[in-house]
Amino acid sequence: MKNISRRIFIKVAAAVTAVLAFDKLFMLNRSGLKQFVTTANADTIIKGGKPVNIKFLNRSFFQRLFGKPVTPETKNLNSWDFANGKLRIDLEKTPELKTPGHALRFEDRNLPVRVLVVFGENKTYRAYQNRCTHIGHRRLDPVPGTQTVQCCSINKSTYDLDGNQIYGPAPHPITTYKTSVENNRLIVTISQG
Ligand code: FES
Repeated sequence: MKNISRRIFIKVAAAVTAVLAFDKLFMLNRSGLKQFVTTANADTIIKGGKPVNIKFLNRSFFQRLFGKPVTPETKNLNSWDFANGKLRIDLEKTPELKTPGHALRFEDRNLPVRVLVVFGENKTYRAYQNRCTHIGHRRLDPVPGTQTVQCCSINKSTYDLDGNQIYGPAPHPITTYKTSVENNRLIVTISQG
C-alpha cells in the first residue's frame, strides 16, 4: 500500500513538473518576463454598435493562474514616498517612467493602495489603483499599442485608459488618480489628505 502511494505521488509530481517545464519552454520564454510583451490573441466585442478588437498580453496559463503581472515593482525603494494623500515619485530614480510605454508598480510600506503608474506611448502619465474590480482583484498591466490596461488573471478584464471596463467579467471601472509633474517628481494624488 505504501509503495502504491509512493508510485502515485511520483507520477503526479512528474506530471506537474512536465506541465511546468512545457509552460516555461513554450510560454515564459516566448513572452519573457520583461516590460514589453507582444500582444497575442485577441477577441472582438461589439461596443456602441461597432466591433472593437481587444488584444491580450501574451502570457502563459500559469502566469495567469497565479496572477503574475508583467509590470515590475520599482526596485529603488528610495525613489518614492507617500504623505498627505500624495505618492511622490522621483523620476531621476525611476528611469522606467521616462521611457514611453513603460510602467511601474508601487506597493506596501505606508501606501494605502497598490498603484500602477503608466508612462504612455504619448508621453503622458496615468495612475490607477492596481486592483481589478473582478472578484480576484488581481493586478493590471498596460497592453502595448492598445490604449488599454488589462488584468493579469485568466479572465483578462480590460479597461480603457480612463479606467472604464471594456472587456471581461469585471463589474466596475478601476479607480484612476490625478497626476502632475513638479520639479522632476511625479505626484499621484491618492486622496485629498
Ligand atoms: S481578477 Fe478576475 S478578471 Fe481580474
